[in-house]
Amino acid sequence: MINGKSVAVCAAFALGALSCGKTESTPAHKPMVSNVTKQSFGQTTDAQAIDLYILKNANGVEASIMNYGATLVSLKAPDKAGAVADVVLGFDSLDGYLKPEPYFGAIVGRYGNRIAKGRFTLDGVTYKLAVNNGENHLHGGIKGFDKVLWTARAIDSPTKPGVELKYLSKDGEEGYPGNLNVTVTYTLSPANELQIDYLATTDKDTVLNLTNHTYFNLSGGAAPDILGHELMINAERFTPVDAGLIPAGELRPVEGTPFDFRQPVAIGARIGASDEQLKRGKGYDHNFIVKRTGPGLELVARAVDPASGRVLEVLSTQPAVQFYSGNFLDGTLAGKGGRIIGHRSGFCLETQHYPDSPNHPAFPTVVLKPGETYSQSTVFRLAAR
Ligand code: BGC
Repeated sequence: MINGKSVAVCAAFALGALSCGKTESTPAHKPMVSNVTKQSFGQTTDAQAIDLYILKNANGVEASIMNYGATLVSLKAPDKAGAVADVVLGFDSLDGYLKPEPYFGAIVGRYGNRIAKGRFTLDGVTYKLAVNNGENHLHGGIKGFDKVLWTARAIDSPTKPGVELKYLSKDGEEGYPGNLNVTVTYTLSPANELQIDYLATTDKDTVLNLTNHTYFNLSGGAAPDILGHELMINAERFTPVDAGLIPAGELRPVEGTPFDFRQPVAIGARIGASDEQLKRGKGYDHNFIVKRTGPGLELVARAVDPASGRVLEVLSTQPAVQFYSGNFLDGTLAGKGGRIIGHRSGFCLETQHYPDSPNHPAFPTVVLKPGETYSQSTVFRLAAR
């Protein structure tokens, strides 16, 4: 039985010339059963081969990640009746990801969210970044980490399959200083946790704010929008924004506002309230400051789709999370299975530092210096009840 399964997995591995069941600690009569496979996901317009790495566990959870944009392409999870469905937005084929699209599942960098006027000063030098969102810089610029090819390697493990993705962002890319070496690793645990670990080093002082831009819809496409999802965000304060969605600098208590998610509440319950901040964001598009009990992984948010019973918990080492309710999704894109990606059909919980931190000395620092290692982790934990 174990042997049979192992052979099947090794056959898939042969395609990508990956190692299979050959570790020294594994006796020859008991080959290791790997739960990661690699398959082709097409080619970019300049003929670069794109691969999909599929991580599986014994509970039917399956995460597919491609080396273009280090993107989470699909995440399949069972509902309370055991029915498995894909709970993230995106496309069935590479094509959709090569056209303009709002960062579905991608790793965003060098800087997640906005930097005002695409400008910041570090060590007395003013750096001018690519401007791609009105007068501001958004999600790393014109060709951010979501649009580059990463070097991928499968992590072959029976219990914690994964994929490690590496990218060298050259000094001056999109206007940022320093050669930046980034490693992003996705691993899937037997407890239905998809963990993303981020590591980076630089050879010059720089700024950095990496995140993952997955849009969740825990109904697996059964519900056209996410307004019925119940959301808890572990935050007492958020950063109000100006008309360009740049934080003004204030840390505002959520208490008494539609931004109070300390107790679970439906995303749609107050989204239409007459509120200046909701008006500016066209809904929720705000940075919430995580209430921490210490360093390390902290529970950031919990989302529940009452109909399917699927639950998503987000844990992170990051100080904040951008809760974005998919306000700019407008039905012009067709996604998986040809389904229209409608207004607010997915939500993002982008664990990160505060937007525009390089221009706010009072915000936690995003500066990375030579000799230091940037290290952050985020976990998407899935369950059903
Ligand atoms: C931003 C939104 C933006 C979306 C897609 C989110 O992280 O906060 O303002 O529209 O990403 O780009």
